[in-house]
Amino acid sequence: MTTISARPTAAPEIEQLPEPPLRRSREIQGNVLAAFNKDFMAFRYMRFPDDNGVGGRGWLSVMLNTVSVTAGVEDFNEEFSLSRRAYGQDPAITATWVGVSLTYQGLLQVARDPERIKQDLSSFGSFTQGPAAMAAELGDDGSSAPGNWLFGSEQTGIHAVLIVAADTEEALEEKLRNIAAADSAHGVTMVHHDDGRTLTGDLRGHEHFGYKDGISQPGVKDFHREDREHAGSRENRPGSTLVEPGEFVFGHRSESGKPPEGPAWLDNGSLQVVRRLRQDVGGWNNAVVREAAKFRPTGISPDLLGACLVGRKKDGTPLAQGENPVTGVGQGANDFTYENDPQGTQTPCAAHIRRSHPRHFEPTQQHRIMRRGIPYGPAYTAGDDATDRGLMFVCYGTSLERQFEFVQRLWSNNPRFLPGADGAPNGLDKVTGTIKEGGTGSPDAHIVLADGQEGTVSMDRFVQTTGAVYAFTPSITTLRRLAAHESLHGKG
Ligand code: HEM
Repeated sequence: MTTISARPTAAPEIEQLPEPPLRRSREIQGNVLAAFNKDFMAFRYMRFPDDNGVGGRGWLSVMLNTVSVTAGVEDFNEEFSLSRRAYGQDPAITATWVGVSLTYQGLLQVARDPERIKQDLSSFGSFTQGPAAMAAELGDDGSSAPGNWLFGSEQTGIHAVLIVAADTEEALEEKLRNIAAADSAHGVTMVHHDDGRTLTGDLRGHEHFGYKDGISQPGVKDFHREDREHAGSRENRPGSTLVEPGEFVFGHRSESGKPPEGPAWLDNGSLQVVRRLRQDVGGWNNAVVREAAKFRPTGISPDLLGACLVGRKKDGTPLAQGENPVTGVGQGANDFTYENDPQGTQTPCAAHIRRSHPRHFEPTQQHRIMRRGIPYGPAYTAGDDATDRGLMFVCYGTSLERQFEFVQRLWSNNPRFLPGADGAPNGLDKVTGTIKEGGTGSPDAHIVLADGQEGTVSMDRFVQTTGAVYAFTPSITTLRRLAAHESLHGKG
């Protein structure tokens, strides 16, 4: 990584507070706990040569010299936000980040003892089988079926996922050129690549349907400080509940009170989900206009219906009324639950943010995910429906089954979850939900708003899965051992 530092900007009083231990980690890769947060990101899905792992290990040795770690990324992010707060502008610093993850096939290919790795991971069903095998469970059917994916279907073997993140297109290209030289030196080939780009202008920080994204994230104990005035919340982020680190990083205490199950070589690593989600923006816009007009007695505005389906207005303001009048309102507001809204008359039960994080429902903390997505493709302009655009959805956690898959399967896709107004069915998560073929329940949502407006919303599917991969983001030590062909089980 390259960091050009202009001036030290850390505020002295913050420096004096003890630093949470994981904040300084040089073992946990960047982007798991400390977000890469860059406007230009490259996703590279790589395949190692068929040479008993020699090429893959050689490639990993090069990646080890450039991979980013938590302490480095968070130092940068902290300096950035302190400077923004102190001077009201972005500081003159830049950095290019690199993250490396391995699929199950990739691990087996480079490891010294693949048979033991198979045994170690025998209870990690989704990771070892991959997302294509889980497609039916996750509602990836029809046009979203693996046969139509650009990568990650059974036929296309991916061994490694590389994420490179930079402040400018030029810096990204430069890094990618260096990495491409390592690819060819070691016979590593690219199966597919995607380019994530933050949208610009009024859409900056928003996803393609137009809604502000990247607002609500879990806080992490031992990584984030606790807020002095809001016990259990991350400092300066009311509503961002602190979750045990083992929910996101192996080898640390999780919400169950113990570290997550798994062999020691998983420690300080995390499981990564990458999903390429194509968005039909024109289709979404038309459906929102059509369905809003169906509300009785008078119809509601398309903007209000859109907000009902997401749970936040386009500028990020939640529909939920926070209990705290200061921290519970505004564009970045996150200090609310749905406890005061059991019928969904403020935030309908079909709303994406309510389905994917129902908050006061227990025990939601075991189903949190660390989201690291970025849009791909150009912003929508009226009539431009053919262009491929969407979200590179990325998330991290220590259980695919209990976190990402649980949210998608049992909350977003489940018409029986969260009965809405008067117990009426609320269909699916209207952003990401799909009912698998032969599934039961209606995808329609009956919405009754506080002012009495009422309608049954029928939305098609405007988010399509076009690629997916599950990978493991190892600690630096495990990455080093793999690269050196050392055993992951003690002395090798
Ligand atoms: C193209 C697809 C998607 C779009 C357009 C989208 C959009 C959004 C938006 C606008 C927000 C609110 C902003 C925020 O709190 O950060 C949000 C939040 C969230 N999304 Fe998505 N999302 C997509 C896919 C997914 C998927 C696949 C999942 C997981 C299965 C997911 C899980 C979440 C979660 C957990 C939250 C935070 C909820 C909260 O804590 O309030 N999203 N999403």
